[in-house]
Amino acid sequence: MNNWIQVTDLKEIPKLGSRIVKTAEGDIAIFRTAHDEVFALRDACPHKQGPLSQGIVHGTSVTCPMHNWKIDLASGEALGADEGCTNTYQTKIEEGQVYIQIK
Ligand code: FES
Repeated sequence: MNNWIQVTDLKEIPKLGSRIVKTAEGDIAIFRTAHDEVFALRDACPHKQGPLSQGIVHGTSVTCPMHNWKIDLASGEALGADEGCTNTYQTKIEEGQVYIQIK
């Protein structure tokens, strides 16, 4: 069963930043890009579980604050020479509210 969960108002997420949502699946980081796209990833870097929510968003990727791996927000995959992937969640925005899909 796929459940959409309303998590926050888009305005509550800083541009190029994120907000953490606590779920039964653990902490999920909701990122907002400069163009108001929203992505949701498990708040754990594929390298050593660094808090991606504290990273800086560039375009549609985030730089992990721990060792500077760059993670693609759409796929959750590490970019460049690094390898690894973190869970991603579908997002949607309706009437200014952000929803994520928890399977
Ligand atoms: S924990 Fe993210 S780069 Fe090392």
